Amino acid sequence: MSIFYKYAGYYDLIYKDKDYNRECNMIEQIFSKFSDIEIKTILDFGCGTGGHANLLANRGYKVTGVDLSDEMIQIALNKRPLTDNPTFHKGDIKEILFNQEFDAVICMFAVIGYQVENGDLINTFKNACKHLKKGGIFIFDCWYGPAVLNIKPSTRIKKFQLPDSLKLIRYADPAIDINANLVRVSYDLIVIEHDIVKDYVSEIHKMRYFFIPEIKLMLQASGLTFISAYDFENLSMEPTSNTWNILCIVKK
Ligand SMILES: C[S@@+](CC[C@H](N)C(=O)[O-])C[C@H]1O[C@@H](n2cnc3c(N)ncnc32)[C@H](O)[C@@H]1O
Repeated sequence: MSIFYKYAGYYDLIYKDKDYNRECNMIEQIFSKFSDIEIKTILDFGCGTGGHANLLANRGYKVTGVDLSDEMIQIALNKRPLTDNPTFHKGDIKEILFNQEFDAVICMFAVIGYQVENGDLINTFKNACKHLKKGGIFIFDCWYGPAVLNIKPSTRIKKFQLPDSLKLIRYADPAIDINANLVRVSYDLIVIEHDIVKDYVSEIHKMRYFFIPEIKLMLQASGLTFISAYDFENLSMEPTSNTWNILCIVKK
């Protein structure tokens, strides 16, 4: 069963407090600090419902989004600020081909973590490299191994209020596989109206966590150069064993 299928319909509600505006500010800061070229075109790998792509298009960039999930892309299209920008394409970031090089490639909100095998990751990095102009920037965030092993993933239950007195409960139950550097997160979404279950979604997401030396090695094997990694919440901080999400800055 594919992931981000029925889950897609609830994605924007579940992540309504995620601050995409702040993240786009951060992306722009990185562009101006690290890029050798002016950034006008952006390829968004794993664009999802267009949280970054649509905002960046609104800020004047020409954005191309790619995602495996038709359902996520449809939601992104419905929120598009302009009729022709961003363009959204269904495809796999490991292999999709555009006849174009972009000034920047972004891959935001743990999309890299879904590439669990070494081959998947190298193919994703090689494809980012193929679509990136020399001097351009590749940005991605991922779960940071030292923190995942230190803090350890735990079961989380969240409740969301929907319109028409519907309630959504999300139950996330992780199981860590320390020999594969991954966490299998079992998501159950239950939609309830007046004590009656109206919808039920169950998906297992396999999420890989990463260590900086392996990221460097795989980027190098893909033609890219690792520049630095920061705490995703605070770009002035280096990652520590308490930094669950890191932001990696890469150049071609
Ligand atoms: C957590 S969502 C992030 C979406 C978006 N970047 C955001 O910040 O909201 C992960 C997305 O990555 C997509 N994805 C995962 N692996 C992919 C692949 N190999 N090719 C294309 N999309 C992929 C999923 O379909 C999903 O939409």
